[in-house]
Amino acid sequence: MNVTPQDASKRAFEVCSLAPVVPVLVIDDVAHARPLAEALVAGGLPALEVTLRTPAALDVIREMAKVKGGVVGAGTLLTPADVRAAKAAGATFGVAPGATDTLLQACEDEDLPLLAGAATASEAMRLLERGYTMLKFFPAEASGGAAALKAIGAPIPQVMFCPTGGVTLKNAPDYLALPNTVCVGGSWVAPKDLMLKGDWAAIEALAREAAALR
Ligand code: 3PG
Repeated sequence: MNVTPQDASKRAFEVCSLAPVVPVLVIDDVAHARPLAEALVAGGLPALEVTLRTPAALDVIREMAKVKGGVVGAGTLLTPADVRAAKAAGATFGVAPGATDTLLQACEDEDLPLLAGAATASEAMRLLERGYTMLKFFPAEASGGAAALKAIGAPIPQVMFCPTGGVTLKNAPDYLALPNTVCVGGSWVAPKDLMLKGDWAAIEALAREAAALR
């Protein structure tokens, strides 16, 4: 089954509209998957991006997909093989740092709504030309931050973004105040030290604080 870029964007927009922050998760230990997802969902952040950067990532997606109220996606999608593996593991959306025709085609073929990355007006225009209207602005802070995203939004207001990369509790409000920002992505809500300690209550508190950003 495949999905059009327009439908994929609509579904990606819905995922991004669930909460002001999408946690970006880098997880080494599959045993952390369930309690982490439960803490984030309980704190008010249902949409979760599991980056495919650790050997455990696909198993983590499989575990998190069982958590009630969670909407689990796969991040760091680089190749069609990543897309197929993510989909098979139960990911319901994908995130990529950029976009290639091969990757976009694979996501369309696999019916996996993709938040494709763009950092410039030309990148956003190319994706818009193909029908994508919900993108990831990456790397957000290094690309000029909220000021840059605001400037891109002036001539291309029909494209919505999830800025990610260097976003924190402190600078997130600058992005969330922009008309072209639906949510932000960030790893700050799931710090490695708290995961290693199994301090899920502290992570839930971070999620609650992030969920209150809007
Ligand atoms: C990433 O690729 O890891 C994301 O952009 C998250 O970035 P952050 O760690 O700066 O939130």
